[in-house]
This record gives sequence, C-alpha cells and structure tokens, in this order.
Amino acid sequence: MTTNYSRRTFLKYSTALAAGLSFPYIAKTFAAPGSSANETLNVGLIGCRNMGWGDLNAMLTHKGVRCVALCDVDDAVLAERKAALAKKYGQNVETFKDYRKLLERKDIDIVIIGTPDHWHCRQLVDACAAGKDVYVEKPLANSIAECEVMVNAAVHYNRVVQVGQQQRSHAHWHEMVDYLRSGELGKIGRVKAWANFDYAALHTPAPDSPVPAGVDYDLWLGPAPVRPFNQQRFHGSWRMFWNYGGGLLTDWGVHLLDMCLWGMDVKTLPLHTVAHGGKFLDPEGAHETFDTLSVAWQFKDFILEWENNATNNAPHGKNYGLFFRGSNGTLVADRGKWEVFPEGKKIPVKTARAKGDFYVNHTGNFLECVRTRNRATACSIENGSLCARYTHLGNISARVGNGTLLVYDEHKHQFNVPEANRFFKPDYRPQWEFPQVR
Ligand SMILES: NC(=O)c1ccc[n+]([C@@H]2O[C@H](COP(=O)([O-])OP(=O)(O)OC[C@H]3O[C@@H](n4cnc5c(N)ncnc54)[C@H](O)[C@@H]3O)[C@@H](O)[C@H]2O)c1
Repeated sequence: MTTNYSRRTFLKYSTALAAGLSFPYIAKTFAAPGSSANETLNVGLIGCRNMGWGDLNAMLTHKGVRCVALCDVDDAVLAERKAALAKKYGQNVETFKDYRKLLERKDIDIVIIGTPDHWHCRQLVDACAAGKDVYVEKPLANSIAECEVMVNAAVHYNRVVQVGQQQRSHAHWHEMVDYLRSGELGKIGRVKAWANFDYAALHTPAPDSPVPAGVDYDLWLGPAPVRPFNQQRFHGSWRMFWNYGGGLLTDWGVHLLDMCLWGMDVKTLPLHTVAHGGKFLDPEGAHETFDTLSVAWQFKDFILEWENNATNNAPHGKNYGLFFRGSNGTLVADRGKWEVFPEGKKIPVKTARAKGDFYVNHTGNFLECVRTRNRATACSIENGSLCARYTHLGNISARVGNGTLLVYDEHKHQFNVPEANRFFKPDYRPQWEFPQVR
C-alpha cells in the first residue's frame, strides 16, 4: 500500500535524521528562486500527515534547503510535525491552517503539496500564480479537467514542477527501459500492471461523527461537496471515495502505468479504453471506488491492461507489479527488481535488483531543476498529467457502464459517450472557483 510504504520510509527518515482570499489568475513575472547554486531554498509544506511529511524529509536530506512553513487543516498534525522539525533539524517554522496564507510569504521558493487528490489542482495553480515551484504528489489530480488546467498553469507561470512519481528517479527502472529499448523481448503485445491490496475495501462502514477538535473540516473538503464528517472519508482512507480519490487505480496505477507507458515509449492517450469494475468483494463496504477492476487501453499494436482487487494475493506472487510480454520472453518488475523469463531458450534469463533511494533521488532532481530553471524534471507535470488521465479514463469507463468503449478528444475536451462527460470536471463549491488559466 502506498500509505504503508511511505510510512515505512518516513520512519526510516525519522531514525536516520531525525477561506477567504483567492488568488487572481493574472500572469506575473517572478524572479527565479535560488538562482545561485549556493542560495538556500525555502520550502513550505501543505498537507503534513503522511506522504507530504515523507517528501519534506527526503528534501531536507539535501544541502541548501530549509523548511520555513507548514500548513495543515488538522492542529494535531501541525503540532506534531512542527515539534519534530524543531527536534530533528533545529528548524523553527511558522504554521498555517489556510494554505493561501502560506503562499503569501514571499520568501518561500518551493511548495510541497501532500494533500488528498481533490486539493492538488487549486493548490498547485495558486502556488504557481504566487511564483512558487512545486513538488506535487501523485496522482496529479482527481479529474481530467484538473490535470489539463494544472499543466496550463505551470507553463503559463513558468514554474518548475515535479510530480511525486518517484520511480522515475530509480536506476533499476531506467535500466529496465534501456533493456526494453534493446528489442531483446521481441514483439511486445501485452503490457499489464496490477495492485492488489485489501485496504481498498472498507468492510465495516463507520457512522458519521462530530468533527474532531482542531480540524477545519470545511477546509479539508475544500472544493468537494459538503458531507457530514466520517472517519473513513478522512485521513488516509479518503482514497476510496470518488470526491477525493480514485481507489487503487489512481493510488498505485499512476506509479505503475507510468513505467508501462515509459517502457513502451507512449506519450499520448490510447485509441480507446474499456473497463469493468464493481464492489464485488464487499458490496456492503463503505468504499465507493471499485474493489475489483479491470481496464484495457488499446494501442495500434499492443494492449495495456490493469487489474486491482481488494485482496493481498496477486499475479507472480507480488501485491503490485507489471509485466511486458514479448515474443521472446516476459519481463516482470516491481520496485525491488525486474526479471526476464524467456520463451524456451530464445533469450538469456536476466535479473536486476534495485539500489539507492528513489525519494532522495527524486527530490534531488527537483532541487537541481529549480536551481537551473529546468522545467524538464524527472517526472514533469506533462508526464504526471498523462499517467493520471490514463487512470481517470479507466475509472470513467467502468463508472459509465461496464464495457463502455471510451474515446477522449483532447482538443474538444469531450468523450464519445455523452454520459462520460459528467466525470470530466468536478463541480467545485462556489467559494472554490475552478481555476481558469488563459
Ligand atoms: N508518492 C507516493 O508513493 C505516495 C504515497 C502515499 C501517498 N501519496 C499521495 O500523497 C497525497 C497525500 O496522501 P496521504 O497518504 O499523505 O494522505 P493523508 O490523509 O495521510 O494526509 C493528507 C494531509 O493533508 C491535510 N490536508 C487536507 N486538506 C488540506 C488543506 N486544504 N490544506 C492543508 N492540509 C490539508 C490533511 O489534514 C492530512 O494531514 C495523495 O495525493 C496521495 O496520493 C503518494
């Protein structure tokens, strides 16, 4: 589970180191932050509980970076993280509940966005408009329309953005792509990724309850519709509710599909998408997203597939992974290693193991790009948008109706199936206007 993974990483870092204003969407010219290689870059973190905190800790392993501000809608999270920063790094930071106040600080060069997916769009566009460079967590956003406007904002305000698909900064995935480019696998007809984790089914629905003390729940909801507070739709498990996330496909899918698309050198959307899914394992569970889902994206000469189940058993003995099936053999990969299983004796067996820390590499690449004003980060916003839109196509096809053949027209911003268009863009609450750039 990505949450557990990041928690483990956070623990590793811990031991190793220790509603009101709205930004006008007006083009401004900003001085490049940290233009000198020796200048210290000031970081502000928005969303401090889990992955955002991991990202900040990874960033602070690099020289010339300091955290100056934290923002979270939960006082308990803010207090814990502020104390931890003081203890581990001796950094005394200002805290905010409203991210717009953090963005008003002129001395902040970089903003990390570690909030739930439904917040990424507004916060990234506002951060870009305020002249900050952004490390934004994956999936880039919770809808196709949001992905598109976020790319426009980053280009329009000329900001450096890294998307938290950290596998892009891991040597063994680069080596895997080099191997695929060599052509040794022969013709590749099928590529598949999967993630099977039982956290995708919330078996026992929890009753609604009062908002916990110190939590600004209205600000947690932000652009999403008003709903009573419920612990299951809050910290961590918001992933399984459509207004905030997209289930395992957006949670794990962006990471793994990124490797599949990169491996096949795909930079565009598929010809069409077909998906089947449901709450088949636990129809009474609290989750809204699919506990069982299959997606197929069609290309001219191969098929890309996805599978997720709310179980812990999965193909090739791996909870998550991917394979490329070629005429000469099959390459199976996860974050630990990749292996080639030949067809007969057509090609040699091969195993490559991962080394190094992808979080440290990924934040390091971002800092380097900020200093050199290079928009081509290891996982650019354009790439984050591509992978996120693949996941949304899969969920939308299954939500419209099992077996709906979905084609998305990027120029008209429309689907071939009218019922799908209601999933294109979320209805933001009036106080959170949907960002317009240009
Ligand atoms: N790259 C990875 O491997 C990886 C792993 C885990 C999570 N993630 C991503 O990180 C993001 C956060 O996930 P998480 O597991 O940390 O979720 P989480 O629920 O544990 O933490 C989110 C935090 O954001 C805060 N928050 C919510 N709205 C806010 C707002 N308007 N302003 C400030 N703070 C706000 C919450 O109070 C909470 O502290 C998600 O997009 C998720 O997909 C990425």
